[in-house]
Amino acid sequence: MAHQYIKELSQYEGKEVTLKGWVYNARFGANHAFIEMRDGSGFAPCVVAKDDVGEEIFEKAKKLTRESSFAITGNVSKDDRAKGGYEVIATNLEIYTYSTDYPIKVNESEHGVRHLADRRHLWLRSKRQWAIMRVRNEIIMGIHEFFQKEGFLQMDSPIFTGNAAEGTTDLFGTDFFGDPAYLAQTGQLYGEAMCMAQGKIYTFGPTFRAEKSDTPRHLAEFWMIEPEMAFFDNEMNMDLIEQFTRHIVNRCLKNCAQELEILERDTTRLETVNQAYPRVPYTEAIKILKGEKDVDGKNAIQVQEEDLAAAKAGIEEKKQDIAEREKAIKAGMKKGARKFNEAKIISLRSEIATLEEACRNIPRWIESAKNFKDGEDFGNSDETVLTRVFDAPVMVYNWPTKIKAFYMKEVEGDPDHVKGVDLLAPDGYGEIIGGSERETDINILLQKIKDHNLPMEPFEWYLDLRRFGSVPHSGFGLGLERMVRWVCGIHHLRETIPFPRRYGRLLP
Ligand code: 4AD
Ligand code: MG
Repeated sequence: MAHQYIKELSQYEGKEVTLKGWVYNARFGANHAFIEMRDGSGFAPCVVAKDDVGEEIFEKAKKLTRESSFAITGNVSKDDRAKGGYEVIATNLEIYTYSTDYPIKVNESEHGVRHLADRRHLWLRSKRQWAIMRVRNEIIMGIHEFFQKEGFLQMDSPIFTGNAAEGTTDLFGTDFFGDPAYLAQTGQLYGEAMCMAQGKIYTFGPTFRAEKSDTPRHLAEFWMIEPEMAFFDNEMNMDLIEQFTRHIVNRCLKNCAQELEILERDTTRLETVNQAYPRVPYTEAIKILKGEKDVDGKNAIQVQEEDLAAAKAGIEEKKQDIAEREKAIKAGMKKGARKFNEAKIISLRSEIATLEEACRNIPRWIESAKNFKDGEDFGNSDETVLTRVFDAPVMVYNWPTKIKAFYMKEVEGDPDHVKGVDLLAPDGYGEIIGGSERETDINILLQKIKDHNLPMEPFEWYLDLRRFGSVPHSGFGLGLERMVRWVCGIHHLRETIPFPRRYGRLLP
């Protein structure tokens, strides 16, 4: 017989359902078992009362441990305390398997990240990870929805490639029937070819970068979405970046309210996508970064100094709060109140740790920003300092030629700059999109391929695109995991992809 899903419980108020799933958490009284069930579609409280189900079934229920699998039949009743608003009062219970010694606690913060990462195959069942994967799915649907509505054709670009497009330092080499080949760093060059056949296309596939760095924003294998549009200049490219990301974020806000609540995401910070995104040329961006130019009366360096002062004050305030609570606990209070205060103290301590980290970081960030040299690429902290003076995501364009890929189009009359654009998300999430208008002048391209020390032969086919019916065109690449990280408001990319591949991590 077909069973029901937690997500649909509201349709069954006052009726009987059968749910199949796992124990997320369980608590037992003398005559009641309170089980938080998860079934993939959501989480729901279930009550098994001895009087309702009888002795035998109640004994079975009492043995339910975390991640045991079971089916429950019961009546759906409204419960305002429950997150989903409904609970199930059991009339029957069937056990699939009991699980012993499940290695992950409900309170994940009791484990180190390594413990969790080593058990990624189980960690995915945790509530936070469940929510992140749902948001990832929503983002993917939003991407396809947007491009399909806008008349783009989805294309699949090859994974084995014969050329390096994004620089030679982070290539994964492999052997292709005896010939050297690389795992694709990008699908762009193939996207450019297809764009001349189809007008507007987008790729959606895995890309590989041998980044030997253990940072929260780098994976060795990540998913990139790369639209490419014929007859688009970089202005139109930026318009598209803005509409595209706005669409995705709004779709998540609409469809993932529960997930974003589990993740404790401040959704007002995501709503900033509905403002116009500021567009700042690189040369102006570095003035802002160095504190030489204000934005709406806000000075980047001063804002950091204020953030630092606020963090220091916050630490003092929280320390005092802890001291007062500890004193009150010592003086004696009821068990419930004590538990509440103890939990509060733990969370205050973790807030203090975050603020202390800020106090260590901000002075370094300020130094880095003040000493920023024209022509350099932004570091992580520079992006944080720069975006802090803006509310919405920011687009930085016209980048130094030297630090960008060979295919970017030179700014007319200014060969030191190219028409590249990066989208920087607010609140320290940083670069999530990189794109550009493409060089169409075959002679400049030939020169650039040489300047980048790239071999000519693997690019011959690409140069044909400039020989036959070359047109202005532009495109960009969105890092899917960077987008998930921003929307979910999480720190590390390792939580944004089901099974991360990064420096030092190939299993599970
Ligand atoms: O800026 P990138 O290197 O641009 C390109 O690859 C172009 N071919 C895109 C194009 O114009 N079609 O990479 C694009 C995005 C970055 O903005 C970032 O979001 C993500 O891909 N990205 C990474 N994500 C995770 N781990 C890494 N190592 C990443 N490197 C880039
Ligand atoms: Mg980039």
